[in-house]
Amino acid sequence: MIKAAILGYGVVGYGVYEIIRKNEQSITRKTGGNTITVKHILDLRDFPDHEQPELFTKNYDDILNDPEVSIVVEVMGGLKPAYEYSKAALLAGKNVITSNKELVAEYGTELMALAKENNVNYLFEASVGGGIPIIRPLNQCLAANEIEEIYGILNGTTNYILTKMVAEGADFASALSEAQRLGYAERNPEADVEGYDACRKIAILASLASGKYVNWRNVPTEGITKITKSDVKFAEKYHAVIKLVGMAKINDGKVYSRVCPMVIPSGHQLSEVNDVFNAILVKGDSIGDVMFYGRGAGKLPTASAVVADVIDAAKHIHINKLITWKAAKEDFMIDPETASCQYFVRANAENVIDSFPGAENLGGENGEWFFVTQDMTEADFKAAFAGRGAYIRVLEA
Ligand code: HSE
Repeated sequence: MIKAAILGYGVVGYGVYEIIRKNEQSITRKTGGNTITVKHILDLRDFPDHEQPELFTKNYDDILNDPEVSIVVEVMGGLKPAYEYSKAALLAGKNVITSNKELVAEYGTELMALAKENNVNYLFEASVGGGIPIIRPLNQCLAANEIEEIYGILNGTTNYILTKMVAEGADFASALSEAQRLGYAERNPEADVEGYDACRKIAILASLASGKYVNWRNVPTEGITKITKSDVKFAEKYHAVIKLVGMAKINDGKVYSRVCPMVIPSGHQLSEVNDVFNAILVKGDSIGDVMFYGRGAGKLPTASAVVADVIDAAKHIHINKLITWKAAKEDFMIDPETASCQYFVRANAENVIDSFPGAENLGGENGEWFFVTQDMTEADFKAAFAGRGAYIRVLEA
């Protein structure tokens, strides 16, 4: 019998509890005969109508000092007190499973090292892509490859909003509140719409793929709040859609990473990824392109990835699985100003296009003119553009 504790009884915590109860038999089969039960749930709120009210505690010491608890599921979100709680659990020789991308992106290096020192595991499959397997594939199934590129639609809320804006002409605010009602959005929607959530996720993937800790602060990040209905309309004219993309390119140990809205030509695998779905396109040097697709947010999809980690931890109670990246001493991030792509431009004057030889003119409306440039570096583009409107980078087909 393996005893687990859940820290935080929000949407995901509730889903974890439900799946462990509902699928007890099949989970026991998958652990090789060990039944997993939830012994404690930590939450500051009261749940008097819960079917097992005796599980709830407000005191973390009840969990930390319980020698029967070998797996702690941290689904509280945020850095405080999740960091202290996770560290204490690892030091006490307990496995920690998390869906907390903010924590993994900030303290993952230290927490994985602590897990190794204490012969336990710090697992975080649910931190990226919700229910989609991506952490384990990068670590195990694709381990023979050098990962060269990752392009991901990594935030369900923004993808949901953009899909509604394209398909239904919905406005930004109503699409956001619907995503919040469905339980996709972060507590603070700024983390979704400004790209911060996607930034933490691509930083985690880039760290795994490169083996070096990519600090999320070094990933330039733009959100979707400035995208207009005209952008959507003229992107359609260009046979493309607009999506929030987290990308990382790894070349010779150097990493270029960015989060921004991108114009994605139809026909590209990521152009068809809609609603709350996420997708991650990975390019390995041996396998070529491989795409991971599924529900990137929501109670049960995210909880299913958490519980898969719980099962994995139960199968490796005192065997560290060595998921790791290291803090690198040298600067290995490529200057984003040297990266190149095409740019979809919304210009505030008709003659802006004259500064871009070979640009494809898409026409205009209401004092705005749209065109797509040739491939050029970020620095060259910005110099020629001189702030005369707005732009979105084009994902190469
Ligand atoms: N707010 C996140 C999203 C939840 O919308 O994708 C899953 O990380």
